[in-house]
Amino acid sequence: MPIINNKITLEKLLQKMYWIESEMEQLVTWEGRIELMNENIEALEILSHDSDKHGEIVKKWLIKGNIRVPEQAPSGLPKHIFDFNGLANEEIFNTIMKYEILAMNVYKDMKKTDMEIITELFPDENDSMDFIKDMDKLIKDEEKHANICKKQIGGFAKIMY
Ligand SMILES: [Fe+2]
Repeated sequence: MPIINNKITLEKLLQKMYWIESEMEQLVTWEGRIELMNENIEALEILSHDSDKHGEIVKKWLIKGNIRVPEQAPSGLPKHIFDFNGLANEEIFNTIMKYEILAMNVYKDMKKTDMEIITELFPDENDSMDFIKDMDKLIKDEEKHANICKKQIGGFAKIMY
């Protein structure tokens, strides 16, 4: 994706990420609905807890930028991203991993936003640097999350063989 060089694109991505993080936060609700191993449950709890914090970070930037906090799925996203009914554990974590990688890439794109756009959207002093710092933290966390998912998929494969 080319460098983000207009305000609307950044605004839409922030709204999209807010929605995805909210959906990720809901991952724990699957604990009681499907059969999972203890290790899987621990992984889901980490992912869910961190996504809650990520959602708050993204929300902070939505508010700072006077961008509407979405109450419904932004266009292009389904109402509910995750449906694990009937899926095997490895498929579940494979699905989650795709979104963790997507999130990481979007935060990487956001970090590379044209500085003029960042200062236009967040004109307060220090905000542009803080925005970049937050993106760095989110990128690191999402990388960890992708690895957590990978480990769950690998763990399952070992049991299979
Ligand atoms: Fe994540």
